[in-house]
Amino acid sequence: MENKGQFSQLQNVPVHVGFIMDGNGRWAAAKNLPREAGHREGAAAARAVAEAAKKLGIKYITLYAFSTENWRRPPAEIAALMSLLEETLDKFAKEDEDGVRLLFSGRREGLASGVLRKIDRVLAATAGNKGLVVNLAINYGGRQEIADAFAKLAAAGKKKITEADISASLYQNIPEPDLIIRTSCEMRLSNFLLWQAAYIELYFTDVLWPDFREPQLMQALVEYGRRERRYGRRAG
Ligand code: IPE
Ligand code: IPE
Ligand code: MG
Repeated sequence: MENKGQFSQLQNVPVHVGFIMDGNGRWAAAKNLPREAGHREGAAAARAVAEAAKKLGIKYITLYAFSTENWRRPPAEIAALMSLLEETLDKFAKEDEDGVRLLFSGRREGLASGVLRKIDRVLAATAGNKGLVVNLAINYGGRQEIADAFAKLAAAGKKKITEADISASLYQNIPEPDLIIRTSCEMRLSNFLLWQAAYIELYFTDVLWPDFREPQLMQALVEYGRRERRYGRRAG
């Protein structure tokens, strides 16, 4: 295998990695290109990262594609992002034993019916796939996810609510993410996976998302492998 040497450096490969795919606009600006070109290369990076994640043994990735706050952007940029999302969904959607299984995390309200139809189609088409799970966070907000969990519990008549109840009522029933990677050197969560982030490891890089590929993911995983997750215990 071409990368065997590099692979052997990896310890404790995270089961689930979240990506805050940031810096598309700056990538385009640095090349004197329209922002849309940055988003397009960003979509290519997302597909490449899914391939790399699978190869490196990660089981789940969550890709932050559009936040509940991104509606504050100009309509033309939102439209470009939505049509790129539809295109990317098509590229992920292949029925294939070893293929990617797609999940959607976010609020349906606010998304256009065409986008929702495409999401539903792709979820159904990939539901039986056994490969990497790609959880797409679209129209996603961490606070909204927590509020929606409480609303679900209230609707079920639950009076005494535990942490486990909240965890079980989030958008997905998949292992909690171990690591969040944010590109473009912004040091904030921007409403991503707030409940799940309690003891998450954070990795920031100044690489802009459109330039993020397998070597950059490897670098993040090597760093993750060196971390000691103490969960409040003493070191050692
Ligand atoms: C991330 O890139 C894409 C989305 C938030 C949808 P940006 O568009 O935020 O790029 P910058 O931060 O302006 O460089
Ligand atoms: C976070 O990036 C959202 C996504 C990557 C989808 P933003 O570029 O929207 O974040 P802020 O506004 O700089 O915090
Ligand atoms: Mg940004």
